[in-house]
This record gives sequence, C-alpha cells and structure tokens, in this order.
Amino acid sequence: MVKVTYLGHSAFLLEGSRRVLLDPWIEGNPQSPISLDQCEGADIYIITHAHGDHGLDDAVKLAKKHGGTVVGIYEIALEASNKGVKDTVGANIGGFFDVNGVKIALTTATHSSPIGAPTGAVVELNGKRIYHAGDTGVFYDMKLIGELYKPDLALLPIGGHFVMGPLEAAKAIELLGVKKVIPMHYGTFPVLTGKPEDLINLLREKGLEADVIVLKPGESYEL
Ligand code: NI
Ligand code: MN
Repeated sequence: MVKVTYLGHSAFLLEGSRRVLLDPWIEGNPQSPISLDQCEGADIYIITHAHGDHGLDDAVKLAKKHGGTVVGIYEIALEASNKGVKDTVGANIGGFFDVNGVKIALTTATHSSPIGAPTGAVVELNGKRIYHAGDTGVFYDMKLIGELYKPDLALLPIGGHFVMGPLEAAKAIELLGVKKVIPMHYGTFPVLTGKPEDLINLLREKGLEADVIVLKPGESYEL
C-alpha cells in the first residue's frame, strides 16, 4: 500500500517504505495545506522541472534541513548540489534507476524548463507504480509509457494554458491505459481553468472506464 497525499498544485507526498515528495512547491503555493516549517521533509524529492511552481527551491531547503536525496534530470540535480544539498541523484530520460530502494524512471514531458529539460517521473514504491506527468501537453508516446511501465495511478495536469486541459488529459488516459487518475495543476491561478468534472464528463463520452480521484489539498488516497 502507498498513501498518496495531495499538497496542492502538482505537489504530492507518497508514503510507503520511503517518503517521496514530488514537485514539493509549498512556500507561496496558495493551495498548500502546510507551511514549509510544518513539512517534515522526505527521503526522496523528485523535481520534474525547474519552473518555480514545482518546488526545486523548497526541496533544496527541506533536504538541507531534514536530509533526503534530490532527484531529477542531471542539470537540476547539479543545481541542488551547487546550492548545498549533500545527496542528489541526477539522471535523464531513460530507464529505471534505484534511489534508496525506490525505482524511478524519468519520462518525456512536452514543456519547457529554465534548467535542463522537463520530465515526468514513474515511481515504484511498495510494488505500486505511480506516474507523475509533470507539466506537459499530451503526446502519443504516453502509450509507450503505459505499455512499458503500466502505472497503477497517474497524476495528470488538467488546468490548461501551460499544461493539458481536460480534453488532452482524457486522451492521455486513453493512451496510458491507466485506470486510476488524480487530477493536478488546476485552479491554482485564474488561467488554470480546467476542472475535474470536465475530465469526468469527457471520459464518460469516450466510454473510458477510469476512476478520477479528486483530492482536496491535504487529502490522501490509499493505493
Ligand atoms: Ni512548468
Ligand atoms: Mn507548472
């Protein structure tokens, strides 16, 4: 079992044999249910890309205070190291690598990043695979991600403007073949207008059977 807690925007805490924080933007995140001081840190921090709303700065602060390994594309890991984080693992879009017993693979994301290149991440924890798409549009190779990694749960952006909207996220679910989805990256700013209800309606129209699990910031789902 893995406990998946939504921290608002694209930030999630996974709790299993290890604690994993994904895109932990906490300070300045209007959706965050906790302050940075209240955050207990993690064993692993995965950063999908270096835009300010994805938590590289907070991961650096948390890793320096609580320990833990900052993981991301090579240049992001190097940035964290240069900012004083002791343990970092830089990788690239390729295959699974091991960080303290957790299997992680970085995946393509169609987006931009001020450092390195944008990614998504597949995390295998306690026998469950979770795909965090990062910030991305939809792309056909999501089918490949589905075929190779068979995620049990996908965390998908739906807000539009900078990332997929509901229309694209519904296609992403079809391509991934995933049966459980938690929407993210919506409602934080006025331009992120995509809504979970729109995604649910589009899936129904497509006849696609996938559970859309809508979490309020601070809520958890047990996978
Ligand atoms: Ni971004
Ligand atoms: Mn973003």
